[in-house]
Amino acid sequence: MDDTKKINPSKGLVGEIFIPGDKSISHRSVMFSSLGNKPVRITNFLNAQDCMSTVACMRALGIEIEQIGSNELIVHGKGIHGLIEPENVIDSGNSGTTLRLMMGILAPQPFLSTFTGDASLRKRPMGRVIKPLSQMGAKIIARQNSKYLPLTIEPVDKISSIEYKMPMASAQVKSAILLAGMYGDGETIVTEPYTSRDHTERMLETFGVTLRKIGTSIGIKKVEHFESPESIEVPGDISSAAFWLVAASIIPNSNLTLKNVGINPTRTGIIEVLLSMGADIHIVNERFSGKEPVADLVVKSAELKGVEFGAEIMPRLIDEIPVITVAAMFAKGRTIITGAGELRVKETDRLNAITTEFNKFNHCITGTEDGLIIEGPVALKSSQCYSYHDHRIAMALAVAGAAGAGVSIEKASCVNISYPDFYATLDKIGK
Ligand code: S3P
Repeated sequence: MDDTKKINPSKGLVGEIFIPGDKSISHRSVMFSSLGNKPVRITNFLNAQDCMSTVACMRALGIEIEQIGSNELIVHGKGIHGLIEPENVIDSGNSGTTLRLMMGILAPQPFLSTFTGDASLRKRPMGRVIKPLSQMGAKIIARQNSKYLPLTIEPVDKISSIEYKMPMASAQVKSAILLAGMYGDGETIVTEPYTSRDHTERMLETFGVTLRKIGTSIGIKKVEHFESPESIEVPGDISSAAFWLVAASIIPNSNLTLKNVGINPTRTGIIEVLLSMGADIHIVNERFSGKEPVADLVVKSAELKGVEFGAEIMPRLIDEIPVITVAAMFAKGRTIITGAGELRVKETDRLNAITTEFNKFNHCITGTEDGLIIEGPVALKSSQCYSYHDHRIAMALAVAGAAGAGVSIEKASCVNISYPDFYATLDKIGK
């Protein structure tokens, strides 16, 4: 099957876009509703491959999930002790969030579960989750001395609480520890070097769970039951909106309104960096969707300049580095990104993918051990680039091609992981 997508240069992006549901929040809405005590209606659910991996996983664990139309689910939770032993190996596909959060939920269970995933997920490090969960008494065995998928979680009859200092900022690791901590005997406290996205904490509170926050530490005590809300409305994903924020900024004659975007402060690093580069972005119509802040974003073309940022802001824009690189290629002056070593263990080694593929447009990026140096602005040549089967690399390449002289993307359909309508949306708003 030909999986190549050709993107033409654009003369401007104009219109209004409804941003699809947040991937992180969609995963959590299904997981926590499954552990709840009554049915939950989830609206604006992200119907994309990653989140459907979570749905399939919960179904394999005995949860009935009805799908209504394309973006609505009803999850019939069975309580925090209601999951049952899966009959088969569970496939997490490409989704690190499915796998790592489910490890936290399943580590304390009195039954056996085995996970695998696609070629990308089988290369990603699992030791970062296995280590703290094992300290809590979980019994997890994994390939290559507990590093990689496939992995098996053996039954246990008890989990202990721990105090754990994470070596890296990671919402997936933090969430796995907090979720296992709900089954512990005392208080589990997890500390991060910098605060990563806090959707787990906010949604646990929606389900009646009390957490203790002290700086970058979170404490959770044994949870007796989840008090489900009637419904959860998933905000639009700022990580999907990010492609339009950058595209409209760098393509002249653009004026876009991005409707219903989550602006949780643990995710808004992209807006801060683009504003500091000189972008014309306005946040309007601010409101709340449950415990998550939401707004519409208005973005117009602007002259950008280079910027420097590093480890401190990194967890708040970790998934946006590929598209920020594109902004930097169009910005005047040097952009220096440090503290981005975590990009080496995403869906692909994104630092390598960026330096290899984006330099095909015109050599302007130098990779470092934990970051990138981009010398802008450069004129982009029409190029043939490879996505590495990574959805965010494919979409960032598309933005570069639309803003430059076009691009042909090999293995382009991976956008289905997080944004199935991405190319159709680009066609709709492009001039
Ligand atoms: C996610 C956390 C981040 C992010 C991923 C989604 C989550 O990963 O990159 O796309 O939903 O918790 P890490 O926790 O590994 O940084």
